Amino acid sequence: MQWYILLTSGLIDDDFWQWQWYAGLIHIPRGIRNAYMMGMMSRVQQLFGQHCLRTFDADQALVVYNAFKRVTDVVSGLIAESYFQSYIEAVERATAQTKESLDRRVDIAIAEMVAKAQGVRL
Ligand code: HEM
Repeated sequence: MQWYILLTSGLIDDDFWQWQWYAGLIHIPRGIRNAYMMGMMSRVQQLFGQHCLRTFDADQALVVYNAFKRVTDVVSGLIAESYFQSYIEAVERATAQTKESLDRRVDIAIAEMVAKAQGVRL
């Protein structure tokens, strides 16, 4: 609720974006995968759109809905990116590997997986 009030207040500053980054991080130990977060965001957008149609004329509703959709899509992207980057950083810390070393190993593993997937497809 606090999130919605802040978002729709228009007072979106650096702290707000930093908070979205934190959301991606805290979702990891809470078991909230990005698919759940995106499903919830989609529902919030739908409900907001319905509310716009009840509140404004059609043209105005579209303008307001599009603004909300745009900013909440960016929020979703930021939370998802934070989840991914934070997870990778945690792997680096947990395994005491540098990013470069991890990247090299991941590249090799991905190449194997791509080759296998292509082999399966042929
Ligand atoms: C619209 C999508 C979502 C957004 C924008 C969002 C945003 C956030 C934010 C900003 C926080 C940090 C709250 C704080 O400052 O303490 C947070 C934490 C959390 N979120 Fe989400 N979230 C979303 C979806 C979900 C879903 C789908 C679930 C679970 C069904 C969930 C569960 C949680 C939990 C458990 C926390 C940690 C609360 C705590 O331990 O303090 N979130 N989320």
